[in-house]
Amino acid sequence: MAHALQPLHTFALNNQCQNFVEITHLEQLKTQSFESPFCLLGEGSNTIFLNNYAGTVIKMATKGIKVNERESDYLIGIAAGENWHQLVSYLLDENIPGLENLALIPGTVGAAPVQNIGAYGVELAKFVESIEYFDIASKAIVSLNNTQCEFAYRDSIFKHALKNKAVITQVHLALPKKWQPILSYGPLQQITAITPQAVFEQVIHTRNSKLPNPYTLPNAGSFFKNPIITNERLSKLLKIFPELPHYEYGKNHHKVAAGWLIDKAGLKGYRVAGIEVHQEQALVLVNHGESEGDDLIAMIKHIQQTVFSRYSIMLEHEVRLFDQTSEYHINTESVQ
Ligand code: EPU
Repeated sequence: MAHALQPLHTFALNNQCQNFVEITHLEQLKTQSFESPFCLLGEGSNTIFLNNYAGTVIKMATKGIKVNERESDYLIGIAAGENWHQLVSYLLDENIPGLENLALIPGTVGAAPVQNIGAYGVELAKFVESIEYFDIASKAIVSLNNTQCEFAYRDSIFKHALKNKAVITQVHLALPKKWQPILSYGPLQQITAITPQAVFEQVIHTRNSKLPNPYTLPNAGSFFKNPIITNERLSKLLKIFPELPHYEYGKNHHKVAAGWLIDKAGLKGYRVAGIEVHQEQALVLVNHGESEGDDLIAMIKHIQQTVFSRYSIMLEHEVRLFDQTSEYHINTESVQ
């Protein structure tokens, strides 16, 4: 039965999928057909359906949080369908800090490891003890330790070797009892009395001032990844653009701020139909409505081409796009 996709993804394009299934109990996975095409979804805050989807959308909605106290940390087992921000908030109420820098990130706990969510100096990978997934081929539950998840910047094994092969069912996080605040990000340095609650509130305040709420103004968060370039490329760019924000990434590379590249290329407020480069944070695209997948594709290409012609950097979209049958990548290589 055709099902509306608009309420299932926060960018809210007005498309439909052929079938929709909500998983509330793990036993359902054993009898669920994973015939292609299918798309796994949490709250749809990092996925956009460009067209009608000719397959099954499988939404993970299992619930449950278990806390185990160990000698020097807490081990938290969380079902994939739990809401990420509610988890952060619940743990703080239970006096288990650690996740406060990741407050207000939209989406589910099960989706968090796929792209290794990160914000304000912290990435999820730092806390992952293990991830359990339902292996579609064998119908067994498999557990991966942190190293096996192959976490990197907005990346993990679930986007590569395990793509379309695994359904994340449980996330196990280890949160040390000895709290170590991470205050490297500018606005967090303004906090005077440093407590987990104060960091939590400052993160919420900072996000609210720059990032539009996906439930009131449709968007999918940062649209592009911050590009990683070699130190040589960076020093050449800095000669022309001395203010380009950059952060060390390993020994030989730096990450540069894609939002800055888009902003300084004059694209804030640029519109295609109802899709706009956000005025407060140029890395976010917002959808005012009356927009279609083709409008978004035109927008992505325009941004990639404009940024490329100015800085010779090709932006890669971080948001996952789906066309009628499969995941879709827009990389305007022809301009490189
Ligand atoms: N900047 C501009 N103009 C803009 C946007 C940014 O000049 O329009 C500059 C800022 O002034 C700053 C730099 O670019 O110097 C970086 O901007 P910001 O601190 O807002 O962070 P970001 O690099 O754009 C990343 C994550 C966000 C995360 C923030 C905070 C990615 C793709 N995005 O954004 O994550 O919240 O850092 O840590 O890595 C998300 O993934 O959906 C997301 C929101």
